[in-house]
Amino acid sequence: MYNCYCILSAAYQNVFENLYLFKCILICHNRLNKYNNNKCGADLISFLKDLIIRAGNICLEEQNNITDKDLEFKTPKDLVTITDKKVELFIIQEIKTKYPQHDILGEETGRSGNSSRFLWIIDPIDGTTSYFHGQPFYAVSIALEKDGQIILGAVYAPVLGQLFHGQIDKGAFLNDVPINVSDTKHLTDAVMGTGFACLRSDLKNNNLVHFNTIVPQLRDIRRYGSAAIDLCYVACGKLDGFWEINLNIYDIAAGALIVQEAGGNLSDFSGNTDYPEKGIVAANSYLHPLLIKMLK
Ligand code: IPD
Ligand code: CA
Ligand code: CA
Repeated sequence: MYNCYCILSAAYQNVFENLYLFKCILICHNRLNKYNNNKCGADLISFLKDLIIRAGNICLEEQNNITDKDLEFKTPKDLVTITDKKVELFIIQEIKTKYPQHDILGEETGRSGNSSRFLWIIDPIDGTTSYFHGQPFYAVSIALEKDGQIILGAVYAPVLGQLFHGQIDKGAFLNDVPINVSDTKHLTDAVMGTGFACLRSDLKNNNLVHFNTIVPQLRDIRRYGSAAIDLCYVACGKLDGFWEINLNIYDIAAGALIVQEAGGNLSDFSGNTDYPEKGIVAANSYLHPLLIKMLK
């Protein structure tokens, strides 16, 4: 009987020891995971910033030498240059080398992969018309989606030397300095941006009605020719608001996160979250409802 008790007590002790060991391993594993996630975040940001600057430098190098023979037309008003394609391929190659498992969606090459939790969304040159016409308002835009949510985004306008980036719950930055939307309260004090997407040049709903309604209420209007820059300018308060219809996810993915992280309001034309499919409106919290009212 005594022997039996000893065996049982040893067994119990063993179980408790094992449980204790298991608990320790679990705590270590969680700590390690947390450390790896943080490390991965910092890694990702510096990878993205370095990548987008190198992509922007290719645009800069080639802009002055672009001629008619380097130009193709997706539709009569939708331009694409050899640099758009070259920059997209460069970005994709770099991502594939560093993160071979990740999925990619690029404006010029479409989607590759459909099995990863991560999706990179690329617009190699947002503002190709400006780019081809030798103007400064164009940008490279890259966003990273995880489990369907944009977690990281960067927009780089190389001629302007402006690198915007935003990270979910960590804020938005222009050249690494934190940015915020403006605090303009009245339409009469506001300068806003809009666009006339090439994709809708033949559509009945071409933004001119909205333009005619809204512009007389404002101090002034800007049409920079890059939705990504428009959104980032709202984020840093250079613009007080922005609206456009018929954009695609690659035009707005990075800029949208940057606006939100800078404290801006973002919605479709009805105030819901179906953007960019049902239009996109970005502004500070005072002006956003006023814009929605005029766009409904
Ligand atoms: C264009 C720009 C422009 C907007 C167009 C977009 P792309 O992108 O964002 O501001 O008005 O609708 O298509 O074609 O130059 O990448
Ligand atoms: Ca675009
Ligand atoms: Ca583009």
